[in-house]
Formats: sequence, structure tokens, C-alpha cells
Amino acid sequence: MVSYKVPATSANIGPGFDCLGMAVNIYNTISFEETDKGLEIEVIGDGSDTVPLDENNMAYETAKYFFDKVGYKFKGLKIKIHNYIPIARGLGSSSSIVIGALLCANDIAGTNMSKDEILNIANEIEGHPDNVTPALVGSITASVILGDTVEYKKIIPPDMLDTIVLIPEHEMSTNEARKILPKTYDRQDCIYNISRASLLIMAMITSDYELLSKVVDDKIHQPYRKSLIKEYDFFENIMKSNGALATFISGSGSTLMAFCHKTMSQELYEILKEECKKNNIKGTIKILSPVKEGAIKLEIGG
Ligand code: HSE
Repeated sequence: MVSYKVPATSANIGPGFDCLGMAVNIYNTISFEETDKGLEIEVIGDGSDTVPLDENNMAYETAKYFFDKVGYKFKGLKIKIHNYIPIARGLGSSSSIVIGALLCANDIAGTNMSKDEILNIANEIEGHPDNVTPALVGSITASVILGDTVEYKKIIPPDMLDTIVLIPEHEMSTNEARKILPKTYDRQDCIYNISRASLLIMAMITSDYELLSKVVDDKIHQPYRKSLIKEYDFFENIMKSNGALATFISGSGSTLMAFCHKTMSQELYEILKEECKKNNIKGTIKILSPVKEGAIKLEIGG
């Protein structure tokens, strides 16, 4: 059996639409074993009663795509998924499955592909690299698609950076959340985002928390998507008025994320919990920390 642990990710990080992404410390574990025949899938955790357990399962579809591509004929497969990343909430759950399944399939087929090759295949499947890159390599990444390959660089997250998230109960499909975006943008809006995304990277590299607090705004996706997330204004008000550095939609939502200094995270967590209770806002609240490491192979003892 081969097994990989893959982190959750937050794509976009405000102005970095389809480019920036960050790995955070919740994980899915994806395990594969080649068997003599048939398909056996087990899902534990989030989605255990909704995720398809047949050929429509995303881990299976990903592995099949990989095996067909490299010409590997498998007999049967046993797939086990421990799903701790909430599904369809903008925390990269599908990217973690795609990365985990590709890494497992690469081991089973003995194809020995490099991380860069795995990333290119993941991007073919996902269509935008801002979740799959940090899921694979960890840290904070900037990615670009050049022809049919992904180029990326990663930077180590600032030591004292934490995030607080409100994960609403309602799901949001990335496809649907992309449909509501405009096809073209005003030049001023482009300048607004390009300048902020550039400075956001500078702020991360130099651990400049004050600069970070000023450059997370966005005009490419959040103004259009926030109407789909009823908790948006509530979250922004509570977090910003209590000392969070910045707030943004994680990926395409529905999760809302706030950056904060590590010394503030517990206090902000408690405040948000209390305010959600008072205002009857449902959802899961967590402190999530950026992580340096991406997908790792687990040594299975039997
Ligand atoms: N960047 C994508 C979006 C989500 O916001 O639609 C993750 O790839």
C-alpha cells in the first residue's frame, strides 16, 4: 500500500486570483493498493456518506487519467481516503485528492515522475494551479501556466503568521463561483490587483505584517462572490475590529479567512466563536497555520 498526506490550501489570498496559494495544517490522507481485480473505495471523515465510491470517485478518476496517460494497465484498485479537509469550501479538498491520487498512482505504476511532472498533470485536471501547487510543495506559492507547464516559486510563510477561518455550512462549487465573474475587467481594477498581489509577496518575504494588512484587498473576484457568502460582512467586521490583519475569501469560498499575528490567534478565535453564537451564525471556526511542507509519503507499517 502507498499512502500520502496532503495539506489543505487557500487559493487566491485576496488579490492573487488563480496565482497565489498557501498550504495550511489540515490534511487528507490518500492510500492506494493494487489488487487482483475490481475497485474498492473507503472514505472516512468528511463526505463519507456523499462521496461516490465507484468509478466516479475523484481519486479513482485521477488515477485512471494517470494510468491511461502513462499506459499502465492495472488489474484492480483499493483506495482509502481519510478526508479531514472540508469539501467544497474553498480549502483545496479536491486538489489534495488529485495530488494524493497522482502521487500514489506514480508509485504504483513505477513511473518515477518528478514533482514538476506531477504538478503539470494535476494542472491539466484542475485547470488552475493555485491550489495544486501548494498542496504538492507546501508554503506560499505563486504559479503561472506557460504553455502546458506550470512554473512556480514558493516562499516560506512568515513565522508568526496564523489564520482564523469561518467555514460556513453551505458548500460552494468553484465552477459556479467562476461563472459569476466578469469576462473582462477595467484597467484600474487590474492595476489595483497587480500592485497589491506584488506587495503581498513582498510583505510575506519580509514578514512585514503591517504591509500585509494593507494589501490583501481584491477587485477581481471577491466583490462578485461575497454576495454568495452571507457571513462575509459579519466576518470582516468582527475580525478587523478586533485586530486581525486582513480578511479574504479562501479560494472560491465559502470559507472566510483572516490573517493574524500568532499572538492574537487564540483571542480572535474565542471572539469569533462568541460572536457567531450571539448572531446565530453556523459554521466551523478554526485556527489554521500556514505550513512549509506539502504532500508527504507516509511509511505504512502493515
Ligand atoms: N482560483 C480559483 C478560483 C480557485 O478562485 O476560482 C482555486 O483554484
